[in-house]
Amino acid sequence: MPAETITITDNRTGKTYELSIQDETIRALDLRKIRAHDEDFGLMTYDPGYTNTTSCKSRITFIDGDKGILNYRGYPIEQLAESSSYLETAYLLRSGELPTAAQLGEWTKSIVSQSAVPSFIEGLIESFPVGSHPMGMLISVLGALSTANSDSKHVYDVDVRTKHIHKLIAQVATISAYAYRRQSGLPLVSPDANLSFSGNVLKMMFGKTGERYRVNPVLEKALDVLFILHADHEQNCSTSTMRMVGSSEADPYVSTAAAAAALYGPLHGGANEAVLKMLKEIGTKSHIPEYIQRVKAGEVKLMGFGHRVYKNYDPRARIIKHTAYQVFETMGTNPMLDMAIELERIALEDEYFVKRKLYPNVDFYSGMIYQAMGFPVEMFTVLFGLARTSGWLAQWEELVTDDDQKIGRPRQIFLGSPERKYLPISER
Ligand code: CMC
Repeated sequence: MPAETITITDNRTGKTYELSIQDETIRALDLRKIRAHDEDFGLMTYDPGYTNTTSCKSRITFIDGDKGILNYRGYPIEQLAESSSYLETAYLLRSGELPTAAQLGEWTKSIVSQSAVPSFIEGLIESFPVGSHPMGMLISVLGALSTANSDSKHVYDVDVRTKHIHKLIAQVATISAYAYRRQSGLPLVSPDANLSFSGNVLKMMFGKTGERYRVNPVLEKALDVLFILHADHEQNCSTSTMRMVGSSEADPYVSTAAAAAALYGPLHGGANEAVLKMLKEIGTKSHIPEYIQRVKAGEVKLMGFGHRVYKNYDPRARIIKHTAYQVFETMGTNPMLDMAIELERIALEDEYFVKRKLYPNVDFYSGMIYQAMGFPVEMFTVLFGLARTSGWLAQWEELVTDDDQKIGRPRQIFLGSPERKYLPISER
């Protein structure tokens, strides 16, 4: 059997080194012994954007980007979207196994019963000016929640972690709905423990105080499917942020706030908002070829296209497209849909996109569904974050229980000035 090692020759010195290979990776620290001279610090790797660096061993989410496969704990996303619920999926992500009926009942009861946020949080949300961006509100309020949960900093205590994971999954939904209500200048609608997780989200968003709210089952299912699809996606920008902040032993509330901030950017979770803005800017189908030319000239990006790991097709986009039609049948079609389909058709036939393996990602159609459901564009990333919270927390718990992990602290290549003497201002 061939040895699971790699031999490297340093052409600067002529020395050879044998490094072991485990799980198809080499340990970056093993490179340190490769030195050009005695004072040399040792070899490092340069990897902006961590495109080829593994930062952890994980058992949660598997992606095969070339084959378009996404599994949570071994279960294909298609099967979960078809048969599971968001809360069941959140249980699976955390525990590693699908729950029994009793386990699911207990998990659901515990989460649903903790949906109400402290009254000072309601006051904080109501102190934001009407029209404020709900992502800004969500990020701020998650940080503020840390002050009401000071015991959550005992991150190595499993009971403490369990309590706050339940609370966060529940309360992020309430805060998201409240952020929408405040943005729209509407009074807050309290959580309803008699509804499903997604039914409750719909009621808190669209219910009227004092009036009975009838949950539309098609929208309830569609929202649940969207939440399942967004629940985890291994070591993406926001999850890596969650792990990075968590690695300093910060509590899960502030870590989640940081992850939400990372999600906000238009290259990550903010893309669904950016897609709708792009479609609005294009305006009509006849302007699509001109826009594609601008993309190819490098002036703009085709938002909702491309992915760091999927180089075939984002499996979530396929499920979302199917869900979109179900929602449009109930709510009426989104006028942007025709344009999006045409844009996808033209792009998929174009050499520029084919060569670079650029396909629609999860965000290309999700915004159109959210818009058809009645959400303003600013809420799209909030809904993504609401769902991703369960994945962030599962990944965070995996980090804090992993003996290999250390505080995150990358290295740099220093290209600045060598040491020099401070000059008084009169001499500069
Ligand atoms: N439109 C036009 N060209 C693109 C796009 C795009 N959306 N995405 C990548 N390219 C080009 C890029 O310019 C580069 O071309 P060249 O080789 O000529 O320099 C090539 O494709 C490779 O791209 P890259 O920038 O090296 O790819 P990346 O892995 O660093 O970036 C990405 C991945 C998702 C940030 C990028 O595709 C992008 O900005 N997409 C638009 C934003 C978007 O939809 N983001 C949502 C991602 S899915 C939801 C989530 O998980 O957050």
